[in-house]
Amino acid sequence: MRIHDQHFRTIWPTQNAVSLIDQTRLPFEFVIVSVTTLAEVCHAIRHMQVRGAPLIGAAAAYGVALGIQSSATETALAAVVQQLIATRPTAVNLAWAAHRMQQQLLAVPEAARASAAWLFAQAIADEDVAQNLAIGQHGKALIAAKASVDAQQTINILTHCNAGWLATVDGGTALAPIYAAHDAGLKVHVWVDETRPRNQGASLTAWELAQHGVPHTVIADNAGGHLMQHGQVDMVIVGADRVTREGDVCNKIGTYLKALAAYDQGVPFYAAVPTPTIDWQVARGADIDIEMRDADEVAYISGQAPDGRWQRVRIIPHESTALNPAFDVTPARLVTGIITECGIFAPAQLHTLGQ
Ligand code: MRU
Repeated sequence: MRIHDQHFRTIWPTQNAVSLIDQTRLPFEFVIVSVTTLAEVCHAIRHMQVRGAPLIGAAAAYGVALGIQSSATETALAAVVQQLIATRPTAVNLAWAAHRMQQQLLAVPEAARASAAWLFAQAIADEDVAQNLAIGQHGKALIAAKASVDAQQTINILTHCNAGWLATVDGGTALAPIYAAHDAGLKVHVWVDETRPRNQGASLTAWELAQHGVPHTVIADNAGGHLMQHGQVDMVIVGADRVTREGDVCNKIGTYLKALAAYDQGVPFYAAVPTPTIDWQVARGADIDIEMRDADEVAYISGQAPDGRWQRVRIIPHESTALNPAFDVTPARLVTGIITECGIFAPAQLHTLGQ
């Protein structure tokens, strides 16, 4: 992604450290943070300085590399992997990446593990970029097919949360087809769900679409159904934190309601996911561990005050409690297709990709 005329990934290794874009500071400040320890990587994941399923997978991979620099015994490696997996439970990419690192490193002599880990982590990051590029091309074909009826027509796409460049190492998943279509000269406009409580849509998706010059409009989370009823949404494309082998899609809380409205209105609903997001061990979405986050994320809202300072204000009565499930599951029956780097699959066909 180009920011201030420079190409950035969201995470990259530096001298015995890892640099990342601190997403808690966007959209008002572009801040690069350097982390040097496993504890700092775990903190960055837990507190969502890095977030989004593929990106926390890559962060976990680099976290393993940082975590085994002083000891790379089998026991030390297992402890590092466990610490990383404990940070956030829902996005399967995190455990996938940590376990892949563990497996690959165990096949290397102990003395060589510390340096090999950087190469293995880099491979995970590079694969993510390549997968997203392919997702973009497959998804672009869907948008182009819609546009082919009337070349002048603007295709309106609704997305939820942030499954863009910021949620991955580069390129994005749900936004990859949109970037590819926009770059190919197709007219696209994105309805950006604000995505309470953490507002990843309003803060992150809107910001990165603006950087790329893609026309977009931020909407309240509750507006999508209304827009669909009025023919203003041609398709929904979201990302996912985990897709089961039967095609249930677990994504940011509120995705399910968008899928229900889309189904009712005959609007196609797609999830764009790289294959590491598919959990072949799990058949049904009900078996996915849904992260419960701090209720204060619901009780408070933060943003920039007119004087430029960050402000955090309470929006619910002091007597009230709040509940904050971070993800929900959209059942396969509501999903039109799953856009992967290997092509687009109906949920019932996803198993043909399987391992
Ligand atoms: O809690 P977050 O911000 O990590 O949740 C992110 C999402 O739900 C994304 O839609 C998902 O990870 C897909 S990212 C390509």
